[in-house]
Amino acid sequence: MSVAPLKNDVFLRSLLREPVPYTPTWLMRQAGRYLPEYNATRSRAGSFMGLAQNPEYAAEVTLQPLERYPLDAAILFSDILTVPDAMGLGLSFAQGEGPRFAHPVRTEADVAKLAVPDLEKLRYVFDAVGLIRKQLNGRVPLIGFAGSPFTVACYMVEGKGSDDYRLIKGMLYARPDLLHRILDINAQTTAQYLNAQIEAGAQAVMIFDSWGGVLADGLFQQFSLQYTQRVVAALKREREGRRVPVIVFTKGGGQWLESIAACGADAVGLDWTVDLAAARRRVTDSVAFQGNLDPIALFGGEQAIRAEVRRVLDAFGPVKQGGHVFNLGHGISQFTPPEAVQALVEEVRLYSPRFHAV
Ligand code: CP3
Repeated sequence: MSVAPLKNDVFLRSLLREPVPYTPTWLMRQAGRYLPEYNATRSRAGSFMGLAQNPEYAAEVTLQPLERYPLDAAILFSDILTVPDAMGLGLSFAQGEGPRFAHPVRTEADVAKLAVPDLEKLRYVFDAVGLIRKQLNGRVPLIGFAGSPFTVACYMVEGKGSDDYRLIKGMLYARPDLLHRILDINAQTTAQYLNAQIEAGAQAVMIFDSWGGVLADGLFQQFSLQYTQRVVAALKREREGRRVPVIVFTKGGGQWLESIAACGADAVGLDWTVDLAAARRRVTDSVAFQGNLDPIALFGGEQAIRAEVRRVLDAFGPVKQGGHVFNLGHGISQFTPPEAVQALVEEVRLYSPRFHAV
């Protein structure tokens, strides 16, 4: 693939804890329903999967937030649930509802049938990566992503979102062998899937462990982190002569920060319950951090947003040997006013240079 040289590498350099002039910013779910232009493309595509499976549409919505805001990274438009869909579980997104699987994995027989899928079924994702790189033309780097083996297993077993994770945790306690087999298959698939995204042009990758935080201490390490670690260990870390940084984000994982930081990732995503200064001390700046503004702070009006942005940057403090990528502590709400994002991005640019020596 021949592509334009990267014009803005502040995001990649921050993940590797190299000096940069300001704190780079992107937002989890930056392409999404809070943007009217996203909703317009989505209705042309007919459905969420229609959007995600068409590389032209996927590229269009990936670039939409970059047209509005001076963000420092683009994230592939797709979903963590494309992986179990390729395993044959039958994913659908009904309008106004969350994801659903027609064939959840609940019994010993269901688990026995499960296998690493042919990655050709996810060709549409790799095609989207290539097309987005072409359209970005070196403006900012492109992030690829996948769910963690445990987080993806939550949806595979529950068949949809859950309030109490009764089915998957029930399996964990009753038949840990079955859950370990699902996680093993997910880890192998996820490693291949992320490597194929890197091969197609992803310049950094992020693993979303959105639900690892629902596990008891001890079980998180065994059933979530261990498998995330296997994925990280299997990744290609270089492409186009540059390191491909890996970000691991466990929502609700603050108490396990030391072990998450030791999983082999370059950067750790944090939710808003964690103090960034304390986080840096706990791991002596051995990884970069990404986060961690409460997404609901975007409903506080411009003055409050700017003050909260400064509070996050002040908490991290002078960047020195560390690395900070500004982000939310979880995905942006679909009800967020687009002007709120403008205030956030502007304030990071205005206020963060004082924390950078160069
Ligand atoms: O960040 C981005 O802009 C890239 C795209 C992206 C989406 N999903 C698009 C999407 C990413 C990185 C994801 C990750 C994802 N998907 C996670 C991990 C991150 C997190 O939020 O914890 C999870 C748990 C999912 C599963 C998922 N997909 C759910 C629970 C839902 C429905 C709930 C919701 O927020 O609407 C989705 C659908 C989805 N994925 C939408 C988008 C923009 C909205 C659906 C629509 O347009 O109809």
